[in-house]
Amino acid sequence: MIPSALRLIIPLVTFALTALAQNRPVYWGECDPPRENTQCAMHNDILDYKAPWNVFTKVAVMRIRSKLKKPKGAVFLPSGPGRSGINLLKRYLDDPTHHVHELLSQYDLIGMDPRGSGQSFPIKCNATLWNRRVPSMVKDEVEYVALYYHWREVGDACRKMTGKVFDNLDTESVARDMDSIRYNLDYKELHLIGNSYGAHVGITNLEKAVPYAGRLVIDGVIDHTHDPMAIMQAESASFEMTLKHFFQWCQGDAFCSLHDQTDVEGFFKELVSKFEAAPIPAPKCNQTGEGACRSDVSLEEMMTALQRDLGPGQPGWGSLADNLLAASNGDASAFSMPYFTNSTDSTGTWATLATGCLDWQHAHDYLELQAAQQTLRALSPLTRGYSQSFSFFSKCINWPLAKPGIVPNTNQPINYLQRIHPVLLISSFLDPITSAQNAVNIRAIMPKATLVFKNWTGHITYDTPGELAKMVNNYLLTGELPDDGTVYQS
Ligand SMILES: *[C@@H]1O[C@H](CO)[C@@H](O)[C@H](O)[C@H]1NC(C)=O
Ligand SMILES: *[C@@H]1O[C@H](CO)[C@@H](O)[C@H](O)[C@H]1NC(C)=O
Ligand SMILES: *[C@@H]1O[C@H](CO)[C@@H](O)[C@H](O)[C@H]1NC(C)=O
Ligand SMILES: *[C@@H]1O[C@H](CO)[C@@H](O)[C@H](O)[C@H]1NC(C)=O
Repeated sequence: MIPSALRLIIPLVTFALTALAQNRPVYWGECDPPRENTQCAMHNDILDYKAPWNVFTKVAVMRIRSKLKKPKGAVFLPSGPGRSGINLLKRYLDDPTHHVHELLSQYDLIGMDPRGSGQSFPIKCNATLWNRRVPSMVKDEVEYVALYYHWREVGDACRKMTGKVFDNLDTESVARDMDSIRYNLDYKELHLIGNSYGAHVGITNLEKAVPYAGRLVIDGVIDHTHDPMAIMQAESASFEMTLKHFFQWCQGDAFCSLHDQTDVEGFFKELVSKFEAAPIPAPKCNQTGEGACRSDVSLEEMMTALQRDLGPGQPGWGSLADNLLAASNGDASAFSMPYFTNSTDSTGTWATLATGCLDWQHAHDYLELQAAQQTLRALSPLTRGYSQSFSFFSKCINWPLAKPGIVPNTNQPINYLQRIHPVLLISSFLDPITSAQNAVNIRAIMPKATLVFKNWTGHITYDTPGELAKMVNNYLLTGELPDDGTVYQS
């Protein structure tokens, strides 16, 4: 046992030593392609924050300059895992009417590609191994053994091909990179809008660098303070209930192509049994070139795509209905997963798993996996218990870790500094990916936090215009927080 005084001192010493190694200037250059008021750079960041401090990795950073000569600071817009924060900024630049531009009246905007993705040492892997289809819900011990060795083989290959950064893709490291970028750009505080995984980066940053935390907006909250069963159950229930809302919408709105079905839920159940009987073909998919996808779709793959496609919420559900109808007529192309032809992955799939396996707890044996999947199926029968967190729970069982047994970012208690920082937590009532339950859990352990809701079904709220997005901008620009518990209708 480490005495509790030491437990407090060790992180402080580590923090101080890390601070000494922090001075690494950012050399801005043009972006590719060059854009007005926009700069790009590669920043040196510590490869392994738990080990020597003089080995670095590079993190790609992009900055959009504020309209003010002397901006108030910077708002970070983290993205990931596997998704490029630079691409997110580019998307905002391509849409000059997006409400995020209002922030430029006072702030710089900063995006970064988390290590392992985009331009920051993207992870490499053996495409042939990734393309093998190995179910993560297992029927028996034979399938369990296949799962166990498959992902080990994949992980070992990725690790060998990627190099040392593979062992250091955890969210804690990403959050530290972000604060180190803040420090070297000479911003006193870190302001942030973190969506989904970016919300996880934001909360984790608060754990590590609370003295420099500014206005933090945590949208689509992820909760890593609970055990895996609670986390999976929350996600799975929210996915299931969102799907039911989708059925209700279809039943009631002639715009939905399933509107003519007498029973939309019955239609879906029948479709699920078709997928269960055999994968459904994906004739529009190519196994070559950009955007290659698999030639057919299994039940697990369909559920993965379904969870993603429920994310945009209404009014983005029209094409989902079309695609479900097409699948029942034998063309499941829209749900097909990427088919990898290359040792790199532009879809973020590989980095997502490699990061997830470092961040989350996994099952430990056949019985634990079996019990969890049966329970989740019983609780969420329509979606069969599938969810993103279940996929980490299952695929990560034998994933190679640099220091076996040590999962860096799991179940950390919220520390005392974090408790006193005001953050703005946002959730839609029904989010198919990051359940509102997470937001309530995090709110419960952070007495200074403000939690607000959007009365909506969908994942992440800030991206779409409305009352809530207006409030977020106002908070960042003026510091004025809404009342705790406010519900926004748009
Ligand atoms: C990928 O794995 C397959 C199957 O083990 C093997 O045949 C192939 O040589 C590997 N490719 C690379 C580039 O290592
Ligand atoms: C498949 O790829 C080829 C070559 O890249 C392209 O010409 C063709 O249109 C693609 N087919 C489909 C169905 O996307
Ligand atoms: C393989 O990856 C490289 C680097 O991302 C890319 O330029 C190339 O187009 C890819 N090749 C294929 C066949 O997808
Ligand atoms: C959410 O919206 C529905 C109608 O769209 C309304 O009936 C309900 O009262 C609203 N809930 C809250 C808490 O505002």
